[in-house]
Amino acid sequence: MKKATMTLDRAYTIGSIDPRIYGSFIEHLGRAVYGGIYEPGHPTADKNGFRRDVVDLVKKLDVPVTRYPGGNFVSGFDWEDSIGPRDQRRHRLDLAWYTTETNEVGMHEFIDWCKQANTEPMYAINLGTRGVDAARNIVEYANHKGGSYWSDLRIKNGAKDPFGIKLWCLGNEMDGPWQISHRTAYEYGRVANEAGKVMKWVDPSIELVACGSSSSQMPTFGDWELTMLNECYDHVDYVSLHRYYGNPTNDTRGFLARSMDMDEFIKTVVSICDAVGGKKHSKKKLGLSFDEWNVWYHSREQDEEIIKRSRWDRALPLLEDIYNFEDALLVGSMLITFLRNADRVKIACMAQLVNVIAPIMTRNGGGAWAQTIFWPLMHASKYGRGTALRAIVDTPTYDCEDYEGVPELDTTATLADDGSVTIFAVNRSLDEPMQLSVDLRDFPGLKSVSHELLHHDDVKAINDEQNPDNVTPTPGQGGKLDGGRLEITIPALSWNVIRLTK
Ligand code: AHR
Repeated sequence: MKKATMTLDRAYTIGSIDPRIYGSFIEHLGRAVYGGIYEPGHPTADKNGFRRDVVDLVKKLDVPVTRYPGGNFVSGFDWEDSIGPRDQRRHRLDLAWYTTETNEVGMHEFIDWCKQANTEPMYAINLGTRGVDAARNIVEYANHKGGSYWSDLRIKNGAKDPFGIKLWCLGNEMDGPWQISHRTAYEYGRVANEAGKVMKWVDPSIELVACGSSSSQMPTFGDWELTMLNECYDHVDYVSLHRYYGNPTNDTRGFLARSMDMDEFIKTVVSICDAVGGKKHSKKKLGLSFDEWNVWYHSREQDEEIIKRSRWDRALPLLEDIYNFEDALLVGSMLITFLRNADRVKIACMAQLVNVIAPIMTRNGGGAWAQTIFWPLMHASKYGRGTALRAIVDTPTYDCEDYEGVPELDTTATLADDGSVTIFAVNRSLDEPMQLSVDLRDFPGLKSVSHELLHHDDVKAINDEQNPDNVTPTPGQGGKLDGGRLEITIPALSWNVIRLTK
């Protein structure tokens, strides 16, 4: 059997884990809102039309922060359409997704849903067709206590207390030519600076995310960050990163190595942020907000057909990727990558939450179930809190088309406030289990070992409404903890959560 070793020491830490790395995203896109979180008339709907079966699954994931309302949608969105009496709200053409938006769910409804789902809103403003004026008004509407035009309007619309939205995104993917009112890096940097400045004048307690590149594959990546940060560094707190992966050539080994690209992407953005900060003689260090990440490729062809057929219909079933077991393994490795970069990645939002490239699927009028990728996200959110440990790992490696030296065992560890240690591990080998030996001598008092495993013999196995538990965690074989050393077998192609408690 192949062998790997891991050494953990409480003195070797990466940093404290910001729970917001287990965030998610709901866009007015497809059936994320209409038919996802909201479906009046559904057997589980509450009095506001929110599906309770979906809220229960979201709570199970424990999502600390939810980005809203887009995505590409936001760059053509007039936020004022989403407030006031529901029957008087405008129906609008959404040019991002060729859909008709009814605005039935708007700002107040979303805030109510957040309370039910135990999540904090992360609100994106429109820096495509709108600008500084709308930016200052929306913060006044949402966060000012009262006594001004916009805050009084919020009160009149039924919300006496301010929403207190802490986290705001300054637009979405403004580097992308597909974006409604795409901007150059300089143009974007200027408007982000001015919008951010006045938003903080209205409410100095807010935090702001500037749009970084929409992918590390963009030809402007790097230059975009340098140029726009040169304009807005002083007023922003985070830079966004977006990245989706796919396996269109059916190369599982190459696909599972993609988290290496994510790691490189993060490290490059950190360097650029610090270079701009250094040039500006700034004492401030920017955080990273990886506010769109996932696997996304299964539904792409189908979406073109749907749009061709049903352009301008409401809630088209778009981006409904059905995830398989290998997707869950890559998602596990992406979560491990965030933990390894916990000193700088402070926010991350899996894109998205329900129906649209999502861990949760629903049928209109029917059930709600967990896709394969639900499980690693749930495990990491539940157990990956506290401090990220700097694990020293020695593992066999492999080469694939795009990467050399890919670790067969992708693993890291966290230390919780109660002193328990959790090891997360993906065995990327197609057929060989790995014997992992962990040196835990610096953590005396750890006694019990529990092991949860996600494995399926078929990498293409999926969950659906008929068979929702096809790919689901099961207890692993466990390991032997003796004299501060853990010996455990990590099965081939598996996601593992090994918990050591006192
Ligand atoms: O998450 C789906 C889309 O992907 C978002 O609307 C956009 O920001 C990105 O391109």
